[in-house]
Amino acid sequence: MISSERIPNNVDLAGNKRLQRALEHWQPAYLDWWRDMGPPGFQDHHQVYLRTAISVDAAGWAHFDYVKLPEYRWGIFLAEPTHDRRIGFGDFKGQPVWQEVPGEFRNQLRRLIVIQGDTEPASVEQQRSLGAHCPSLYDLRNLFQVNVEEGRHLWAMVYLLHSYFGRDGREEAEALLERRSGNSDTPRMLEAFNEPIDTWLDFFAFTMFTDRDGKSQLLSLSESSLDPLSRTTRFMLTEEAHHMFVGESGLSRILERSCQLLRESGFSGDVRKAGGIDLPLIQKFVNFWFSQSLDLHGSEVSGNAATYFSNGLKGRAEEDRYEDDHVLAANMYMLDMLDDSGRIIRQEVPMRNALNEVLRDWYVGDCQAGVDRWNKRVLEAHGMSDRIALPSRKFNRKVGVFAGKHFDPLGNPLTPEEWDRRKHEWLPSPEDKAYLHSIQATPVYKPGQFANYIAPPARGINRLPLDFEYVRTEL
Ligand SMILES: [Fe+2]
Ligand SMILES: [Fe+2]
Repeated sequence: MISSERIPNNVDLAGNKRLQRALEHWQPAYLDWWRDMGPPGFQDHHQVYLRTAISVDAAGWAHFDYVKLPEYRWGIFLAEPTHDRRIGFGDFKGQPVWQEVPGEFRNQLRRLIVIQGDTEPASVEQQRSLGAHCPSLYDLRNLFQVNVEEGRHLWAMVYLLHSYFGRDGREEAEALLERRSGNSDTPRMLEAFNEPIDTWLDFFAFTMFTDRDGKSQLLSLSESSLDPLSRTTRFMLTEEAHHMFVGESGLSRILERSCQLLRESGFSGDVRKAGGIDLPLIQKFVNFWFSQSLDLHGSEVSGNAATYFSNGLKGRAEEDRYEDDHVLAANMYMLDMLDDSGRIIRQEVPMRNALNEVLRDWYVGDCQAGVDRWNKRVLEAHGMSDRIALPSRKFNRKVGVFAGKHFDPLGNPLTPEEWDRRKHEWLPSPEDKAYLHSIQATPVYKPGQFANYIAPPARGINRLPLDFEYVRTEL
């Protein structure tokens, strides 16, 4: 019998026999997946200082303690309901939100939930080799915190599938544990979630840019007329904020260290000679993960996006902040397209069809704010003239109108030959990867110590000192 003691929740699991029965089958399969695909070597003999959500109020969702990873209590939480919540956009605007899935939108809603759910275990799989190469115990703990929370986000989506989609929901929940990131036969559903994350620079850029795509998708799903979906994703956003903190502060600390090494060499030396990571290399990882994450927002012009909005399934991020009528029946949107000869033209399309691009606008703005903080607080503060910049939206795209075309990071078109010759000026090359592997070859497991290529953080976790033993080995 599954106990709600083992699975902290605010969905009355104890009183919900149907959900209990479904989870009785799913939970053992989840634990098998976690043991197979979670961090290898850190399952049985390590105690990790983790935050576990045990309730949704401020005190309960930030409960800190040492936990063995497979014993983490993955829970099911929905944000508190909003009294008399009404549909905020689309054709049904103003009507009461739905507590059950309307039959006519069942397939569309299930698809949205499955796609979101698939990304969560995928990222755990992508990151599984990093523990053996960590720059500090502090970072190792943050990696595991992100991993267990992505696991919990999978639980959140599986809760919806089990509770609202009957038999096909249960089948989808099982399939979420069967696909594998990067596997050519059973890959994860979205491209960025099949890319390896085998260096810590990848990890920080991924949590900065790809987890931020998670944020924009979750914000748009939290607007949904399906109230349980809205409340589930709203609670996930509280955890997602930490993932982006890990990414933004991780890259910021690498930039900080690179600036220190540059200063020590009189601004002339090669940072790599001192074991650091040079700014152009950091820029390449920004280019790669940002462009991958732009793809996750889908095609610029999309009938699906229009349908999701019209039917009230998926809104814009922070829908309230838009000053239009939230119906968008007649609004238009201007965007860059390609004409038949491949030239860029400005074109007007119905706003509902351009909603992927509208969400991408929100996403790019949120990324830019983070990049501005790096430039101001680190590069400017060190008196450097270099700056980190987001590449053009046309750069390195695999989805949408610019897919298969070639552009440099400023958005200038390139021939296929030019692209082949120059792409490693802008994207990580095998040599770059080999260099990063060489500097992270020896993990740093001593409390309070940090690898040479990264500065210590400003403060520890939960107000603890930096030399706290965030991950403890018990042999
Ligand atoms: Fe997540
Ligand atoms: Fe995340």
